[in-house]
Amino acid sequence: MPRIDAVALPDHLSEDQLTGKIAVVIDILRATTTIVEALGNGARSVVPVASVHGARVMAHEQPDALLCGERGGVKPEGFSLGNSPLEYTLDAVDGVDCVLTTTNGTRALHMATQADEILVGSITNADALCDRLRQDSRDVVLVCSGTDGKVSFEDCLGAGLIISRLGFQASDNAAMMYHAMKGAIEQFGGLRYAVESSFHAKRLIKMGFEGDVAFATQIGTSPIVPVFDSGIGEILAD
Ligand code: MLT
Repeated sequence: MPRIDAVALPDHLSEDQLTGKIAVVIDILRATTTIVEALGNGARSVVPVASVHGARVMAHEQPDALLCGERGGVKPEGFSLGNSPLEYTLDAVDGVDCVLTTTNGTRALHMATQADEILVGSITNADALCDRLRQDSRDVVLVCSGTDGKVSFEDCLGAGLIISRLGFQASDNAAMMYHAMKGAIEQFGGLRYAVESSFHAKRLIKMGFEGDVAFATQIGTSPIVPVFDSGIGEILAD
């Protein structure tokens, strides 16, 4: 049986922790939920870029691409789309490349490049992702993105959900996330309410993004499993 490990922040990865393994990068609020939604609505690719400047330069070089992302949760000046999954409709993204920069999620993707394969995980694609992982014999490491260098409860809840569905042999870190998720669902009366109790969810709700938080907590609504090919720098639907 494959093993499953997890880190609460990409900065917690040790030097060879991802070697030979599948990394699943998780940023429930909101980057990985947005990537899943963009590809589900027909985006040709999502190109994750660490900096706003880098994203502007790349979009300048590819005039047909959409410049997307956030800083402080807000769409930077001149960007076409922010980081709300609800913006990534069929009308907005079908057939286009989305150059995406976000504060933590795109950074985490670039910190996972040592893995054999990098997948993008969210609560919305949890079922499809777990089906995909079950068909593979490689060990898995869940890489939670966190928020501004701090652990994010909602990412650990998403990781816990994936761990519970897979039933792989769990490391202590993975077991902690599983038990935290189980306990939180019981205490808050459901995954959605547990996610809403997180610091980042409260901040987004205050900013008027409560629809994004609700959207991000729907379990298994998307069949899309995005794969990040760090060699070409693109995330494509599997
Ligand atoms: C991030 O990558 O930091 C987030 O997705 C922030 C957000 O837009 O909520």
